Amino acid sequence: MRPDIVVYEVGPRDGLQNEPETIATAAKAELVRRLAAAGLSRIEITSFVSPKWIPQLADADTLCRVVARPPSATYSALVPNEAGYERLRAAALPVAAFFVSASETHNRKNVNRSVADHLERFRPVAERARADRVRLRAYVSTVCGCPYEGDVALGAVVDLVRQLDVLGADEISLGDTIGVGVPKQVRELVRAVAGAVALERVALHLHDTWGRALVNVQAGYEEGVRTFDASLGGLGGCPYAPGASGNVATEDVVDLFERAGIATGVDLDALVDATAWLERDVLHRALPGRVYRARLGQRERERSNAEGAA
Ligand code: HMG
Ligand code: MG
Repeated sequence: MRPDIVVYEVGPRDGLQNEPETIATAAKAELVRRLAAAGLSRIEITSFVSPKWIPQLADADTLCRVVARPPSATYSALVPNEAGYERLRAAALPVAAFFVSASETHNRKNVNRSVADHLERFRPVAERARADRVRLRAYVSTVCGCPYEGDVALGAVVDLVRQLDVLGADEISLGDTIGVGVPKQVRELVRAVAGAVALERVALHLHDTWGRALVNVQAGYEEGVRTFDASLGGLGGCPYAPGASGNVATEDVVDLFERAGIATGVDLDALVDATAWLERDVLHRALPGRVYRARLGQRERERSNAEGAA
């Protein structure tokens, strides 16, 4: 059955870019394998950014050589510029994910140049992507607020969305980088963006810093968005956005929709197993996802009840 919504897993990229420890390439490949096996059909697996800026993902080229590529899953990776695009092509990934901020200061901190300059340098890359039939996803960061500038005008977001549309973005993901948005704001944002591009091409990328990512997912759904970025166990953050924490947890999004009869195509228990494996065997620390933790607790109670009954 075709899922009703797309849960776009960004944990291997948005989550692992922020990890203090170096994670073995083989562990990253195993994580991606488990995510795909749990039914996630869109996975952002790494970044072709400068290894000086994001050393955690410096093994992107190697990862792409060893990662399994089941036909059920489509992988993307961040690409900020032509050098990143060359690497994506050598790795034969089908989706390039560009990123630009709605606020000037965050953009400069993140990619060392102005919004206009960053877009201009990306233009030839977008043209190559079209000619190569590589799909282009584009993130707009800081859509609900900027860690440096505070409020971000809705008009600035919509203007950037229009520019990305002209540039050739197939899909535009609206990033609440520092998780400050509230449902009213997300509703207004989605309505405004819907005036610029069709909502089938829009995703929401909500970080959970203030604990509102899930209510914002619900608000976005009610306004017509059908693609939601999420990170297993709530892993993650943006290293160039101080105070930012992980994305909305994938388990929370899957459970929210499945319990409402909206199919995600994701097997929640297989996903919980993948997150438990990452936590126990790779990260050696607890992840914050609420549904993930609740399901682990439920399993523990079921186990002890079964032992008591035996
Ligand atoms: P720069 O230092 O201005 O780059 O960085 P440059 O063009 O001047 O080049 C400097 C050196 O980097 C050169 O090497 C280049 O070859 C190399 P050198 O000659 O010194 O040896 N270089 C590269 N190497 C490998 N791959 C590349 C690449 N590009 C240049 N692609 C740059 C500019 C954009 C490269 C840098 O600022 C950068 O990589 N930034 C990425 C920061 C980042 O990844 N941030 C986190 C992801 S964004 C995010 O998390 C938000 C999101 O989740 C949405 C949301 O939550 O809102 C997407
Ligand atoms: Mg992010």
